[in-house]
Amino acid sequence: MGFLRSQLIETLKLPYPSTSYAGQTIVITGSNTGLGKEAARHYARLGACKVVLAVRNLDKGEAAKKDIQTTAAKGVSIEVWKVDMASYASVRAFAARVEAELERVDIFHANAGLVRSEFALAEDNETNITVNYISTFYLVALVLPKLKATAEQFKTLPSLVITSSGAHRHTAFPQMKEANILAALNDKDYAGGKYWMEQYPISKLLGIFAVRSIAKEHPADTYPVTINLPSPGLCHSDLSREAKGMQKVAFTLMKTLLARSTEQGSRTLVDAGVQGAKSHGHYLEDCKVAQPSDVVTQHPDVQDRLWAELKAKLEAIQPGVTANF
Ligand SMILES: NC(=O)c1ccc[n+]([C@@H]2O[C@H](COP(=O)([O-])OP(=O)(O)OC[C@H]3O[C@@H](n4cnc5c(N)ncnc54)[C@H](OP(=O)(O)O)[C@@H]3O)[C@@H](O)[C@H]2O)c1
Repeated sequence: MGFLRSQLIETLKLPYPSTSYAGQTIVITGSNTGLGKEAARHYARLGACKVVLAVRNLDKGEAAKKDIQTTAAKGVSIEVWKVDMASYASVRAFAARVEAELERVDIFHANAGLVRSEFALAEDNETNITVNYISTFYLVALVLPKLKATAEQFKTLPSLVITSSGAHRHTAFPQMKEANILAALNDKDYAGGKYWMEQYPISKLLGIFAVRSIAKEHPADTYPVTINLPSPGLCHSDLSREAKGMQKVAFTLMKTLLARSTEQGSRTLVDAGVQGAKSHGHYLEDCKVAQPSDVVTQHPDVQDRLWAELKAKLEAIQPGVTANF
């Protein structure tokens, strides 16, 4: 009922972005298409100083830039930078460039994400987990110093917006009872077997747990950056590109009947960037702070265990990096 209300009624109330972004630098991963691209279009229309399209395919990024330029305000600089979230080295190189080349970052959208149709590893995890969770939080850790420096230098409150999903509700997260949760999620026979359809929802659920852990350690009143997680709702985009057979039919039907346009969905991301301190650590739906699923709210112990596992994983990738949180 809540989902239908959100898709059919709340969609019509999503605020059309109208804030000026003059002087601001905004970075958006996964912005060559879909929600990220439409969010970038809003920022360019609203006069941001610089918009960085962070994409894994530079040709697709350049095509998106050309398209966004047709609706951009005068003088907006749109740059296309490479980042492949399936590669830790690429994430590291991209973040180093953010640190070295950008004078400031006012809003950073960790938006790139995917739904894999088949079990496959990327780096040392199943691919949904690497792209949507581990690399996303590796990137968050690596760019936070630039956002904190922006806060200090320009006396502002930058935002780090991680695109979440209402799909996080579509799992009871059976793996939470395992001694090593990440290992279970990366086990082909376990996660790739009867629980496979829950893997993408779980990859989004994990992000909510992580942001709550960051905010638990660093509450809004002492932290110079707002970190939040908007769910865009069900939207038209390329996200279900790998779906096949009955799954494809189901997706197509659902989207035809209920989906927000890509532009409408992108409003939720842009809105999250201006929500400010009251949204720090929170999941958002329809541009409002919302309760995530019971799996999240009823299991603070699981949250703590996952946070320890995530930090251990990130420390193994790059020793010392979790101090950035
Ligand atoms: N659409 C929905 O209904 C919906 C609902 C809830 C949440 N979301 C979330 O919204 C975000 C954007 O998705 P979307 O719906 O706009 O889907 P989309 O049209 O498929 O866009 C996803 C973007 O992520 C990029 N991406 C995927 N894997 C990547 C990688 N390894 N490295 C760098 N970039 C990568 C894609 O690049 P390529 O084009 O090169 O593949 C694309 O730019 C995702 O986090 C998704 O989980 C979407």
